[in-house]
Amino acid sequence: MAQFSLPQNSKVLQGKKIDASNGAKNKKTFRIYRFDPDTGENPRWDEYTVDTSKFGPMVLDALIYIKNEVDGTLTFRRSCREGICGSCAMNIGDCGLGGTNTLACLKAIEDVDGAIRVAPLPHMPVLKDLVPDLNHAYAQLASVEPWIKTETQPPTRERLQTAEDANALNGDDGKGPAACILCFCCTTSCPSYWWNGDRYLGPAVLLQAYRWIIDSRDEATGERLDQLEDPFRLYRCHTIMNCTKTCPKGLNPAKAIAEIKKLMVARQA
Ligand code: SF4
Ligand code: SF4
Ligand code: FES
Repeated sequence: MAQFSLPQNSKVLQGKKIDASNGAKNKKTFRIYRFDPDTGENPRWDEYTVDTSKFGPMVLDALIYIKNEVDGTLTFRRSCREGICGSCAMNIGDCGLGGTNTLACLKAIEDVDGAIRVAPLPHMPVLKDLVPDLNHAYAQLASVEPWIKTETQPPTRERLQTAEDANALNGDDGKGPAACILCFCCTTSCPSYWWNGDRYLGPAVLLQAYRWIIDSRDEATGERLDQLEDPFRLYRCHTIMNCTKTCPKGLNPAKAIAEIKKLMVARQA
């Protein structure tokens, strides 16, 4: 019978355990994925137990505390700490059930019972610790040309939109396609992207494509749809809905993809 196992160098080993809580009453353990390609060592889970009264309420607060006060080698991305920049996207959950892709700055520590497991976004190459390599995803984003494209003479002032047209981008509830922060939580939760990410664009990039397709000021709609008319780029979405379920901003990339498919059908009719 065939046997499958991970290559030795990709097995995640148990790493160090550091109790930096000094016996505090309010303490929490963070089990964090660590990987440093320069050492040639396997990835590992390091565990840090810390006093939660020393920092703010979010998982990002804990990571910043651990980096500043306990282990300066811990590497992760963050910038705004307000759910706006999308850079702190990672996979966070309890140690038993695994995690969800979300933003560390929006994930409350108290929402997770027991120890908290923190891993990089899944199914992406890891550059170091919690930092995934997003180069391929960004190249895919560039391929849909996410900027306004026009052929007509530019107006002498900004290009105006009706309130209704602007609303299509922003959404009645502020959760329209223009609210996407490109964190790639959705793309890295999508099974179709896991298997075909080399050619399937994934929900984040398709949401961006849709954002420009429906922009009333853009004049390249047909060209944009032509570019997506492909068995892999668009049609690898099988409506599994993981993307919408995981989006930390409450957006609906699966609906945007369905709308692109409807536009494809409509122009053939
Ligand atoms: S749709 Fe949501 S999860 Fe996907 S990139 Fe945009 S903000 Fe992130
Ligand atoms: S709906 Fe489409 S894009 Fe979203 S998770 Fe499913 S297959 Fe992926
Ligand atoms: S730090 Fe910017 S979204 Fe979390």
